[in-house]
Amino acid sequence: MLERHEGALGLAGVAAQADALTIAWRNGDSAHIPFLWLRHNCRCDDCVIRQTSEKRFRVSTVERDIRPSAATIDDEGTVHETVTIRWPDGHRSMFPSGDLAELLHPPRRQLRYWDARFEPCRFGFDEFLASDQIAAAMIEEFLTTGACILTDGPTEPNSVERLVPRLGPMRETLFERIHNVVVDPAGYNIAHTLEDVPPHNDMVSYTWPPSVQALHMLVNDCTGGESVFVDGFAVAQRLRRELPCMFETLCAVQVPFSLFSAKDVTYAVNPMIELDSAGHLKLLRFSNQTMLAMPLSEPRLDDFYRAYYELDARVNDAHVQASSRLEAGEILLTAAHRVLHGRKPIKGAGRRHLQDAYFEHDNVRNHLAALVHAVPAQIDLALPGP
Ligand SMILES: [Fe+2]
Ligand SMILES: [Zn+2]
Repeated sequence: MLERHEGALGLAGVAAQADALTIAWRNGDSAHIPFLWLRHNCRCDDCVIRQTSEKRFRVSTVERDIRPSAATIDDEGTVHETVTIRWPDGHRSMFPSGDLAELLHPPRRQLRYWDARFEPCRFGFDEFLASDQIAAAMIEEFLTTGACILTDGPTEPNSVERLVPRLGPMRETLFERIHNVVVDPAGYNIAHTLEDVPPHNDMVSYTWPPSVQALHMLVNDCTGGESVFVDGFAVAQRLRRELPCMFETLCAVQVPFSLFSAKDVTYAVNPMIELDSAGHLKLLRFSNQTMLAMPLSEPRLDDFYRAYYELDARVNDAHVQASSRLEAGEILLTAAHRVLHGRKPIKGAGRRHLQDAYFEHDNVRNHLAALVHAVPAQIDLALPGP
């Protein structure tokens, strides 16, 4: 769920400092807002294209060290309370105090981390498509835990396309738009064999791997082959707490990955753990099967192998691996930059046919914004992701 801070309405004062305006609220909150930020975010008719609500004003059209000539509080103590700023060229910018208060405490999605005991929430496929309310509940849950299961879905090949209005558009790669995962002696990927598939995320051979994955079971008449999934962010966060040097190594050292078929090759070199500018986890790239040899010229090769050894052991620890046998008509949705998926070995001769399709987390999140008629920025500032 999103945590929202109660608005800090009620301005106590404004004061210009060397390069920022200090705004104080009566509840004790305060903010130091750079002058150029204030000038940049002016919402007057000169600075905004009214038709589109987009910015017209560009920062480089004023002095970089611009300072207001005056800053005052108007309509103090009323619902119209506003900080009014006058600039040396006569321009005037007005900021309702409620808007400024919200900027102090932007809503942030609290991710719910999990381990082997996790059971993803289940939602009916038809209900998810038919009901905006159920779709919103599913997406909300998905954004929080990174994994949900749709049940009682179709079993016709490519019917995962029916999710496009809710989750799409589909993210395509160089390989098939919808990947067929069947045991195939000519297959190009470990998933086409009977082997145990250790937890991984797909397509880390792209610099921006698909951020949502749908694993749609069409036929499951084999024994074994249970799906395994791991909250990679929970594992990484724990590593960060317990072995920060190793975590930092995995954030820094570039690792090559490649996935290829007879006709296509994908290749990208990136760190296994990526953070956003605030230091929050943004994206994991973990796929032992598609990782290439590390270059011997890597100066931190020893450190890297110590850290990778630790991460590999943690991801493959039974305590973090949730598991579920996907039956025909079930679709496991994962936030693929966060949640790793795998499969236990397939036994027996029964048929098994899974289809994989990819979507993008931004689009899924924005579908939720549309469903609850909210401004996207108020829905989720957390993820990245995932
Ligand atoms: Fe996979
Ligand atoms: Zn303006």
